[in-house]
Amino acid sequence: MSGDAIRARDLTKIYGQLSAVDHLNFTVRSGSVFGLLGPNGAGKTTIIKLLTGLSEITAGEATVAGFDVRRDPMQVKRRIGWVAAEVILDDDFTAWENLWLQAKLQRVSAWKPRAEQLLAYFDLTDRRKDKVGTFSTGMRKKLEIALALLHEPEIVFMDEPTIGLDPSTRHMLWELIAGVNREFGITVLLTTHYIEEADALCDQIAIIDRGKFVATGTPAELKARVQSDFIEIETTELVDETRWRAIAGVTDVRTEGRSWILRTPSAQTTLPNVFAALRTDQIQRINIEAPSLETVFLDVTGKHLDAAGPEVHDFRKFYSTVRRARQ
Ligand SMILES: Nc1ncnc2c1ncn2[C@@H]1O[C@H](COP(=O)(O)OP(=O)(O)O)[C@@H](O)[C@H]1O
Ligand SMILES: [Mg+2]
Repeated sequence: MSGDAIRARDLTKIYGQLSAVDHLNFTVRSGSVFGLLGPNGAGKTTIIKLLTGLSEITAGEATVAGFDVRRDPMQVKRRIGWVAAEVILDDDFTAWENLWLQAKLQRVSAWKPRAEQLLAYFDLTDRRKDKVGTFSTGMRKKLEIALALLHEPEIVFMDEPTIGLDPSTRHMLWELIAGVNREFGITVLLTTHYIEEADALCDQIAIIDRGKFVATGTPAELKARVQSDFIEIETTELVDETRWRAIAGVTDVRTEGRSWILRTPSAQTTLPNVFAALRTDQIQRINIEAPSLETVFLDVTGKHLDAAGPEVHDFRKFYSTVRRARQ
């Protein structure tokens, strides 16, 4: 497949008075990883539901894998995979039985070689005969991604694929998701409210807040929007704030614990001035912080991404609540 995997024009979803998705225009290049980064309630899941045909488009249009979502929903469904934010596995089934069930649901006939390949890729071959109820959260997520890939989709949608996972499991999943894109050649559209995740995985990012894109670009382009570096410095002796402020190129000075944080348009040109102003033996520690996506979100929305919405802290607790609510 070449060209655009997804094209959305004025894509809109209105719930009552609320524009959950508000006239969005974007394209996802075939073979790329596209990230929707935004806080809870921004409209990320709604966008996935519109693109996968799970929710009716209020206005605008979208093509996925070359087919109009409204006119050809079945053609679209055949070519996409979907990894929901919620757990969808059956605890009483083994990994292999879950794959078998998925093959039935998707009407994939010769599914076994593909299932074996996926189990191997996600390092679950040894656990294929174990009930999913015994799996860790990370293993469940891996199996869910495997299920979404069983029918060999061109595009896979992953809704908050690492929400609530511990950092090491999250990093392990990043590697696997990057491989799904690179090795399997599948276009990935993922949503996240983790800045580092978008930064690590995505070729293109759209930062979304209240149904609207507030900034779009590559991670590097987005970071370039915020024109400051930060020099973090710790000294052996007390240094007066006025001395920092007097250094050429330093535009702002803050303290954080024992460190000073100097804001500057360019750490590269300002650092020699810092060294000249201080004796080098006074410097205990120095760290350069390049502009990050967090600074971008802060810059465009005036709030921190994590502070912008409630976070789901405990994954298991959250899902046991969901299961109870369903009963
Ligand atoms: N079925 C629905 N009915 C009414 N409002 C909804 C529905 N689904 C989502 N919303 C609202 O739309 C907004 C976007 O929700 P959602 O797409 O789930 O955000 P995100 O996935 O970014 O957290 C929220 O304000 C949410 O409350
Ligand atoms: Mg969501």
